[in-house]
Amino acid sequence: MHRIVFLGPPGVGKGTQAATLAGELGVPHLSTGDLLRAAVAAHTPLGQQAQGYMDAGRLVPDDLVLDILRERLAADDARAGFLLDGYPRNLAQAQRLEQITSLDAVLAFELPAHQLVERLSGRRVCPTCQTVYNLATRPPKVAGRCDRDGSELVQRPDDRPEAIGTRLAVYAEQTAPLLSYYRKSGLLRPVDASGTPDEVAARVRGALH
Ligand code: AP5
Repeated sequence: MHRIVFLGPPGVGKGTQAATLAGELGVPHLSTGDLLRAAVAAHTPLGQQAQGYMDAGRLVPDDLVLDILRERLAADDARAGFLLDGYPRNLAQAQRLEQITSLDAVLAFELPAHQLVERLSGRRVCPTCQTVYNLATRPPKVAGRCDRDGSELVQRPDDRPEAIGTRLAVYAEQTAPLLSYYRKSGLLRPVDASGTPDEVAARVRGALH
């Protein structure tokens, strides 16, 4: 069973690694950020409530996130395991998660703050297929266009400088305390997130074996 949480600051590379590992392990990549962005794009009531918090870089209220997470974890494809990316983000969320499922490991990705800012500032996303690029480290073949479908790449609203500062502060205040929480429970496995995505992926595999 692979019931794994990806924990780490904004821009550390959780989504990039989860996309690789989910394919290798045959379990779904469940990202609360992706689920919330889909709700915003679809203009659902949840999306309308969440958008202001997300664009500002603040956490969406726990109850709103729990509803979509519970629904997603109950889907058939998550029965054999999952990679949970972006949840929990505070102690209350961790305690609620324990009431829904047990976990096998919590991978804690680590990177110095200046590299987080570089990765976030350079990120561009395809609004059609959601492929993630980086101007410095993973540029598209044609500037500004998605390799897969040619859509014009966009910057996430929360990747603008003012929101990045808020997100890093929110992580330090509310999410970082989960490191000691999961260390105490014996689930925590630190992963050095520096270097290329392939180098980080090799460390992820090492941490899981
Ligand atoms: P969410 O989408 O979860 O954002 P995040 O945690 O801030 O993480 P990111 O998606 O920014 O970064 P990542 O670590 O996945 O990095 P990535 O792989 O993309 O949440 C967004 C918002 O939703 C929150 O602020 C909040 O409002 C709300 N939300 C979500 N969950 C919530 C919850 N549980 N409770 C309340 N609110 C919630 O990589 C970043 C860039 O770096 C990319 O350009 C990538 O190409 C590049 N890159 C990746 N790896 C490398 C590498 N090894 N070397 C060089 N470049 C790399």
